[in-house]
Amino acid sequence: MGISILSTGCFLPEKIVTNDDLATFLDTSDEWITTRTGIKTRHIAVGETTSTMGAKAAAQALERSGLSPDEIDLVICATVSPDVCCPMVSANIKKALQIESAATFDINVNCSSFIYAIAIASSMMQTCGYRNALIVGSDTNSQIIDWSDRSTCVLFGDGAGAAILTKDDRRGILSSHLDCIIDQDNMLYCANKIDPTPFSDHAVQGADTKVSMHGSGVMRFAIHAFHDAVEIVTQKAGVKLEDIQLIFPHQANIRILYSAAKKMGIDMDKFYVDIDKVANTSCASIPIALDLAATEGKLKRGDLIMLIAFGGGLSSGAMLLEW
Ligand code: COA
Repeated sequence: MGISILSTGCFLPEKIVTNDDLATFLDTSDEWITTRTGIKTRHIAVGETTSTMGAKAAAQALERSGLSPDEIDLVICATVSPDVCCPMVSANIKKALQIESAATFDINVNCSSFIYAIAIASSMMQTCGYRNALIVGSDTNSQIIDWSDRSTCVLFGDGAGAAILTKDDRRGILSSHLDCIIDQDNMLYCANKIDPTPFSDHAVQGADTKVSMHGSGVMRFAIHAFHDAVEIVTQKAGVKLEDIQLIFPHQANIRILYSAAKKMGIDMDKFYVDIDKVANTSCASIPIALDLAATEGKLKRGDLIMLIAFGGGLSSGAMLLEW
């Protein structure tokens, strides 16, 4: 008996922002963004929050699973942009789905969070006796990016994705690899707001509370981490790269995938790519891609798939599983 993905769901906000829309208030162009990143459009939340988007993606995954809310034993939400710190985003999601009682928490490993969340959930399913877990990735990146910084804001979008994990007779998760190396230069940085108190003048406000990034350094890290992660999860599972039907990479920049494909000697069509439509949705990136691929009929039972993510920290994670 393995731990497998039973169903998926996703939610993308209605508002679609094109590269040309961004060029109306930034010194940029559709040509620059498309050739440097592969991104054409992104969804931006209007009136939605990380909790509401997460709840919608989760509700879809739950409905497709055929399970009732009281069959969910564990709820984890992966997010870098929680709309609340108390209660947890996962508690809001759980409340929206009327899941009466379940272990519930949020995690933040930046864009690697969803893979970490699945790994944590599968360990807890093995040790705590849980049968079904709801894993959500949801991010409102539009709230944490600096809309005047053209080198970062064009890269991100908002959205949520979800997956239900269950114990069944498939092999499910075959191997995983989680890592985080020291980010010596804060290549990806975003601080929480800190206000002065009656006891301290210390404050963190303004630009430091928005995402800043050394793009080329992050790109170098991503390509390196990608390659290492693929080698480790395939070796651990005793699987060859050619046996894998589809790879779901974190959707950060199409050029990272071109480099990875070249380095690994594989065709680009081995990667599921939706970055042109949704951009980088942080923790939601992988579950959105999984859900779109599943609804497009690109996944069939028994397929071997790989998930790979990297992000701030500098964190990375990969997982090999049977669909
Ligand atoms: N439109 C037009 N010009 C832009 C621009 C934009 N949106 N953003 C940056 N530029 C400019 C820069 O100011 C720079 O100008 P300069 O040469 O006059 O200083 C020039 O374009 C080249 O910038 P550079 O940083 O060398 O480009 P790049 O090829 O490295 O691409 C990124 C920049 C950000 C697209 C790329 O580095 C990247 O995607 N990195 C990885 C990011 C990532 O994966 N982040 C998420 C991790 S979870």
